[in-house]
Amino acid sequence: MNMRSKIGFIGAGLALALAGCNGSSSGTATAGGGNATAANNSSLPLVAFSQANSQDPWRQVFDKDTKAEAAKYTSDMQFEEQEAEDDVNKQVGVIDTFMVKKPKVLLVSPVTEAVQTEVEKAHDAGEFVILLDRSVPGTKWDVYVGGDNMAIGRQAGDQMGKLLNGKGTVLMIRGTADAKPTKDRGNGFMESMKKFPGIKVIVGDDCGYQRGKAQTFMENFLQQKQPFDAVYAHNDEMAIGAYQAMKAANTPKKVIIGIDGCQKEMIEHIKNGDIDATFMYPDPGPKGVDIADDFLKGKKPTDKNIFLPTEMVTKDTADAYEKEHPNLAG
Ligand code: FRU
Repeated sequence: MNMRSKIGFIGAGLALALAGCNGSSSGTATAGGGNATAANNSSLPLVAFSQANSQDPWRQVFDKDTKAEAAKYTSDMQFEEQEAEDDVNKQVGVIDTFMVKKPKVLLVSPVTEAVQTEVEKAHDAGEFVILLDRSVPGTKWDVYVGGDNMAIGRQAGDQMGKLLNGKGTVLMIRGTADAKPTKDRGNGFMESMKKFPGIKVIVGDDCGYQRGKAQTFMENFLQQKQPFDAVYAHNDEMAIGAYQAMKAANTPKKVIIGIDGCQKEMIEHIKNGDIDATFMYPDPGPKGVDIADDFLKGKKPTDKNIFLPTEMVTKDTADAYEKEHPNLAG
């Protein structure tokens, strides 16, 4: 069964509800302090990092860890970061501006696959291009470092199948369309669903990986009174947003699964039984900076795709997970 065959039954009423997620893109605050220069020794080669956004909790951890790693190499590189507020055009502008400074290495966490042309431009200009978390099509980049989102999607599907005993309706709340993790998290999940013919999937709207948009989407969805048993959200922020909308509407408990595992708040929800599972989405920043430093020293990784491991977190493993990850975002 492919994804299309499962979307088929979405009615006109739902289409209206789905529109709730199509609001404007993310806010403009730079809570994570995404724009920074960690070192400024102009005789050293430049490693430039174009971050998709610095607003959401996962990226704030990502930014912090990346800067901390770069700070270890202040005698090897100058490190600069600029975030793009989830805006493709802004990211293109950021990379263009970086290119004027001729960085030796360009780290990019693309907003969407639409940044491909810009990535290729930098690669053609001789920059060593490392993609972090979100890949782009083609081969004109050097390394991808991040999670294996197909595998995560499949594991989320397997867990969903188990929690629903192979029967029910799942509402999938999607991340940014055209971002590779969104596609893979959706496709991996649908692949797993082939094992559970008794489960129907309602493919929800693009909620931009944002809590507020997912909350609004769920508020509208609940008004359609369409029965469902579970929510698969492409990240924890959206899982929490959906949970909050259901709680406010006194909706009976649904199975909820998210992805990221970087926030205390999510782990608390799992411990309380409000939310059923999440998957640790590995932070690719430090590894990306290490590869950049290796490159400056003449060493290149042998693999083009470097997939970092994930881990499922459930009520049974939440305490151990918290102990293993003492620096979860507040
Ligand atoms: C942050 C984020 C994470 C998610 C990742 C996917 O912008 O939305 O929550 O796991 O991007 O690229």
